[in-house]
Amino acid sequence: MTESAYVPIDTSFSLTDIKESLRTSLLGRETLLYPLLDSTNAVAVKLAEAGAAEGTVVIAEEQYDGRGRSGRAWISPKGGLWISIIFRPSLAPPAVFRLSMIASLAAAETIFFFTGLKAEIKWPNDVLINGRKVGGILLEFPADSDKVQIAVLGIGLNINFYPREFQAISKIATSLLQETGRPFSRTEMLSCLLEKMEKGYGALKEGQFLAIFDQWKALLKDMGEWVEINTPQGRQRGLVESVDENGALFLKVAGEERLKICMDLS
Ligand code: BTN
Repeated sequence: MTESAYVPIDTSFSLTDIKESLRTSLLGRETLLYPLLDSTNAVAVKLAEAGAAEGTVVIAEEQYDGRGRSGRAWISPKGGLWISIIFRPSLAPPAVFRLSMIASLAAAETIFFFTGLKAEIKWPNDVLINGRKVGGILLEFPADSDKVQIAVLGIGLNINFYPREFQAISKIATSLLQETGRPFSRTEMLSCLLEKMEKGYGALKEGQFLAIFDQWKALLKDMGEWVEINTPQGRQRGLVESVDENGALFLKVAGEERLKICMDLS
């Protein structure tokens, strides 16, 4: 019998429980819950294009074609938190990436609140515990707009399943269950995450992003370290010197040369 057989079964989400636990006024005002989807981001993009309201949240118990960054697949079995939020931010493209920064910070803080574990952020917005990925953020918006009118923010958090049982991610990912040996209420974690996201979004809209940026930076791993990073120009090795408020990374490469690597949509 595997270790997971001893873990209490994670009960399914219920829309009623979710609604009761939400403490937000914008995010989750409209919430859609599906047992199985290809990708919550794919569904949210279609809904947004069809006029769905800002703050709409799409949740799936399971995704069979979950999207990760750089065209990678995102393994999304039952027990995880797989959500997408529709925003109508009306922000210029570089600043829209602040939504991803708010999300990775909110995810790390939510994890700390429930588990006491200190999650780190690996550029651009991977959420790590003990060096392994526990959460990821995927922001999608039309690339050609001056001011982004629709942005879909996908958040994936590995909560109540064992990534070590999935060959593709067994060495690089972890979950809250795997780290602590106990399951967590995904409903309560969702509520906490959306509350933090909503506060962050409010601050962003009011021009108060600096405090969030400072908190995000404080959790950022690899500052002052040598890293290898995928860039549009290929893989780059360099020393992480700093980041700016839109999440762009300044990397010192050969000699005195510096590269600015912006967050992107890939
Ligand atoms: C990454 O590669 O780090 C980003 C992963 C984002 C995964 C989430 S799960 C919910 C939403 N729907 C998707 O298809 N992807 C995002």
